[in-house]
Amino acid sequence: MARIAVIPGDGIGVEVMAEAVRVLRRTRELAGLDLELRTWDLGAERTLREGVTITEAEFETLEGDYEAILLGALGDPRIADDRHARDILLGLRFRLDLFVNFRPCRLLDPSLSPLRNPDRWSGGMEIFRENTEGIYVNLGGRFKAGTRDEVAIHEDLSTWKGVERIVRAAFSHARDRRRPRVTLVDKANAMPASGALWRRVFQEVGADFPEVEREAVFVDAMAMDLVRRPQRYGVLVTSNLFGDILSDLAAVLTGGIGLAPSANLHPGRHALFEPVHGSAPDIAGSGTANPMAAILCVGLLLDHLGHVREARRVEEAVSLAIAEGVTTPDLEGTSSTEEVGGWIADHLANVA
Ligand SMILES: NC(=O)c1ccc[n+]([C@@H]2O[C@H](COP(=O)([O-])OP(=O)(O)OC[C@H]3O[C@@H](n4cnc5c(N)ncnc54)[C@H](O)[C@@H]3O)[C@@H](O)[C@H]2O)c1
Repeated sequence: MARIAVIPGDGIGVEVMAEAVRVLRRTRELAGLDLELRTWDLGAERTLREGVTITEAEFETLEGDYEAILLGALGDPRIADDRHARDILLGLRFRLDLFVNFRPCRLLDPSLSPLRNPDRWSGGMEIFRENTEGIYVNLGGRFKAGTRDEVAIHEDLSTWKGVERIVRAAFSHARDRRRPRVTLVDKANAMPASGALWRRVFQEVGADFPEVEREAVFVDAMAMDLVRRPQRYGVLVTSNLFGDILSDLAAVLTGGIGLAPSANLHPGRHALFEPVHGSAPDIAGSGTANPMAAILCVGLLLDHLGHVREARRVEEAVSLAIAEGVTTPDLEGTSSTEEVGGWIADHLANVA
């Protein structure tokens, strides 16, 4: 039996996760899967009520007792510094050492893309973003802060170990999914120190995967190419910062943030699935949040657990909803969050 921890979180996280869980329950029923779901009360409400973000014991249980975590979103205007979100989300990311941020980008319907020839991008792509190092480790500081002499230093950290494991994860994925090529995205011309490390590791690890081609592209050129000829790319591997930016760009090319799922992985050990979007306080409570990104996270979760057919079925049902116009206002539809989730759950049995 696989145990899944569900953390709805805050704002629309709660609303979209209700629909994701509905789709997961329906899949479990249709396919007779042995899955146990438990909902966790972690988020702004709990922090405001009890003054606690997440305890050591909770980290330990989440680390030891669950095959995977499904998370909605964290962030609430009543907690100005979003400290609970940092404690919970970054806490889990570092405690579980989730070094792969896996972001699949699929165009589920040509009508969703701002590209001139969206049909040419039928294959989609996967971005492997390094998730535990880079510029987000917060090394550095400010000197003479608040004066005209202020100096700010923000270090960009790459380790051989950190780079090796994300690059290896990308090549393994390309080999297993028969992607012909892995593309390293960097800025080795302007950032030669980290660039040299990444490129050396890329060549060394790549040599273990002779069936997969390798190439390196500068991040500025990649930003242009993702719009100009995205069909050229299959698996991208890149640093924390560049991955953050490029995956939002890729999300918009495939229909927007309401459709972008992600996985935070330590392959073979831990997995946390979450939509790319946040808690969207501007639309929370209006019933208009798109639940598709959260539902597509259920697809990634099922795939991760080895239920490949069921995963495809979830993705197919989402595509069908888009084709039938059963969408929320961000995709120019008039359906509510609940109506979209209900429709997808009801149509799971009708797709291959
Ligand atoms: N992983 C996470 O939990 C995560 C990620 C990003 C932001 N956040 C937090 O969320 C809060 C809001 O952040 P933000 O406004 O920068 O980003 P956001 O993703 O919450 O919202 C950005 C814009 O996209 C819209 N949007 C987002 N998801 C949508 C959906 N499913 N359907 C329709 N529209 C959607 C919102 O209405 C908003 O206009 C902040 O507290 C932030 O720290 C959390």
